Amino acid sequence: MILEYEDYQFVGAVSGQDGLAAVQRERPDAVLLDIKMPGMDGMEVLRKLHALDETLPIIMISGHGATATAVEAIKSGAVDFFDKPLSTERVIVTLRNVLKQSELVAENRDLKLAMESRYEIVGQSPALRTVLESVQRAAPTNATVLLLGESGVGKELVARTIHRNSPRAGQRFVQVNCAAIPEELIESELFGHEKGSFTGATEKQVGKFEQADRGTIFLDEVGDMSQKTQAKVLRVLQEQEVERLGSARTIKVDVRVIAATNKNLEEAIERGEFRDDLYFRLNVIPIVVPPLRDRREDIPRLVQHFAKRTAEEHNLKPKRFEPAAMDTLSRYRWRGNIRELRNTIERLMIMTPTDAVRVEDLPSDIRNSEASAARAPMPAAAATAPAAAAAESTSAATALKTDTQPAGAGTLREFKDAAERAYLVQKLRENNWNISKTAEIIDTPRSNLYKKLEQYGIKQEVDG
Ligand SMILES: Nc1ncnc2c1ncn2[C@@H]1O[C@H](COP(=O)(O)OP(=O)(O)OP(=O)(O)O)[C@@H](O)[C@H]1O
Ligand SMILES: [Mg+2]
Repeated sequence: MILEYEDYQFVGAVSGQDGLAAVQRERPDAVLLDIKMPGMDGMEVLRKLHALDETLPIIMISGHGATATAVEAIKSGAVDFFDKPLSTERVIVTLRNVLKQSELVAENRDLKLAMESRYEIVGQSPALRTVLESVQRAAPTNATVLLLGESGVGKELVARTIHRNSPRAGQRFVQVNCAAIPEELIESELFGHEKGSFTGATEKQVGKFEQADRGTIFLDEVGDMSQKTQAKVLRVLQEQEVERLGSARTIKVDVRVIAATNKNLEEAIERGEFRDDLYFRLNVIPIVVPPLRDRREDIPRLVQHFAKRTAEEHNLKPKRFEPAAMDTLSRYRWRGNIRELRNTIERLMIMTPTDAVRVEDLPSDIRNSEASAARAPMPAAAATAPAAAAAESTSAATALKTDTQPAGAGTLREFKDAAERAYLVQKLRENNWNISKTAEIIDTPRSNLYKKLEQYGIKQEVDG
């Protein structure tokens, strides 16, 4: 009566046997289970149910004063225990909590599954297999790994995979984007600070190295650190200890370091921008993640993967990619690598009205580079460097797309994005689309600017 009054659906069973059958038939969200029953007693039913599905929440009911039984029941997997006579209040509150709890567990499991697929490394090309072999060798060790490769090739994904396959997997993976943190804040980010150690330090802050203790720290865009920060990071790597700003105390940290950059650090060393001693410390296990154009065999698989993921994320119907479209996608240059491919597929999945994606549905810059490749036919297998060069020369004669309308900017976020995009386009125009120069003038690292161009789809398209 209590349950029905609260609008729960309930199924009754007159014995343990009957209950077991009912659970298998009805798949309930929770079970209330009496202990003293004819035939099979409640404890036995509990153990059987638990073996059947250990996530099923079971609440025991017994005559009062049976503390020992209660303890045993909890040990055998019951989530709670009611005394007879049942208190309405207690039944309702407990049941509500139990159901909430198992909802959270289910949600957590789904999220984990979604995360797993998010971190799946798709592809079987020889170039990728070489990377995965290095990952496998490096992961179980504590050795510092340096990930090298263009923007969007999957360096972060590889870093996370190393962590997840290391003995530190149960500990934190702390990511620091050295390019995104302003120079004057990076030290306090990395090493932490004491309250009052500088103007604005109103609270104590624990640094990323400390946060990553016993886990992994991922120093992303490590080539963008200033000389001063480089010196301090080098010290941490050598001594395995940090000092918070404004504190004389050193704190031992046990941190595995994975660093990544899309810069050529050896050239940076020659220019005097990167410390060679830090480079040698980081470069214990270098892993080069190859650009997508050097593993075009993987493109169809990646397309399917991103199409499926987008469909799931946005509740869309699955789509077919017609062979000609897949071909064109496989031949494109993908300067933004896998990130650009992913964004393209997401856009296609959302914007293509039909069930099949045809060549005509592809963005014009992708179709056009196809046209130029057709003029200078290239055997597919060898279509790496020469085709890339051909694509390069096409885009050299191109102008960037400049639709800067901040249309439909509903939320603050959308407005900010639209404004940032318009600003970038404006600055690029002023600097004749010279990325290095623009980056310098607006005072952001080049890699960050590239990322923004990618993020906002500020793209090159063939002139005329
Ligand atoms: N082999 C792969 N399979 C599936 N997804 C991938 C693969 N490689 C990269 N991705 C996805 O592509 C996107 C870009 O990858 P990631 O952020 O790791 O690149 P990155 O090298 O760190 O780029 P950047 O230098 O710009 O930071 C991510 O969404 C990532 O999950
Ligand atoms: Mg990255």
